[in-house]
Amino acid sequence: MHITSDIRYVGVNDHKLDLFEGQYIVPNGMAYNSYLIMDEKIAVMDSVDAGFTGEWLANLRAELGERPVDYLIVQHMEPDHSGSLSAFMAAYPQAVVVASAKAFSMMKAFFGEEYEDRRRIVKESDKLALGRHTLSFVAAPMVHWPEVIMTYDETDKVFFSADAFGKFGALDVEEEWACEARRYYFGIVSKYGTQVQALLKKAQKLDISIICPLHGPVLSENLGEYLHLYDVWSGYGAESEGIAIACASIYGHTMKAAALLADELKKRGCKKVSLIDLARCDMAEAVEDAFRYDRLVLASATYNGDVFPFMRTFIDHLTERNYQNRTVGLMENGSWAPNAAKVMRTMLDKQKNLTFTETTVKITSALSDDSRTQICAMADELMK
Ligand code: FEO
Repeated sequence: MHITSDIRYVGVNDHKLDLFEGQYIVPNGMAYNSYLIMDEKIAVMDSVDAGFTGEWLANLRAELGERPVDYLIVQHMEPDHSGSLSAFMAAYPQAVVVASAKAFSMMKAFFGEEYEDRRRIVKESDKLALGRHTLSFVAAPMVHWPEVIMTYDETDKVFFSADAFGKFGALDVEEEWACEARRYYFGIVSKYGTQVQALLKKAQKLDISIICPLHGPVLSENLGEYLHLYDVWSGYGAESEGIAIACASIYGHTMKAAALLADELKKRGCKKVSLIDLARCDMAEAVEDAFRYDRLVLASATYNGDVFPFMRTFIDHLTERNYQNRTVGLMENGSWAPNAAKVMRTMLDKQKNLTFTETTVKITSALSDDSRTQICAMADELMK
């Protein structure tokens, strides 16, 4: 696939993977992108997962024939991109690895080899001339690993963005970008909002026509929209008005109460209510919804004096990703000593700029007139 007259796609699709990064389901597989820049000097942008070394080297060979490669640019050392590095270095003995200093330390740690005699260490603003193309490097530490360096091709105005602007899903499956890009972002990158904001500031200064990420499609239209979404997401703003209700129920009574709240919110005109069963959903979808909307309700049964474990896991996912800037309502259930609301509140204590509703719903085993009244009061507050 030609991206520009000199830049070609040489990545692979993975439909064998059960869990990406050991935790994310990928029903439509995953793409490990790699690109080739054909010029007087030839550069390859990143390798691919070790399970696809042969296919990737064959893709390169199909484009290059017997031409040697001059540079392998390693933007990110996570194994989904660096897994075929050693095989490449054996297949292309003239090639020099171009990467940040930190990336070379990681190469030593991963592969026992940091290519002292075949390497070029680059940092922010360094340039690499290939002939017609000049590449300049953009340091992007902690987006989302410390060694990450991105690359801007000044000639074709192409921004190679490492994991940024990536998504779940292989490239031979058609699907909307935002849905799986959002789940990817909030799962994998969202802890590092400050660093993504810093990257976006640098990107603003570049004249970008095409974004080539390491996952997901090459982006060449509506770039403003993708940049805007990344700005909202990394700024911890709400993308849409709406309410996520995340529920951890044991026998279904807490879920009934959560469903009643959802109905009451819709009655009051809330257009987007996402009711989530934390025991049965994809946790990454639940996390995505919590960040996507401006309001969140947590509904949990009390369990061993704590919250039901699925709720604890969910809140841990939120806090480790710096959840902030939202309105939050709490609903608890408990047959003899309801304690879930207190635990949930304590778990969220250190988060920035959370506003809790005045109403906390307390259910004692099953819905009652009292708890129904509290649910209506909470719905009123959330829709104020
Ligand atoms: Fe796609 Fe962070 O590896």
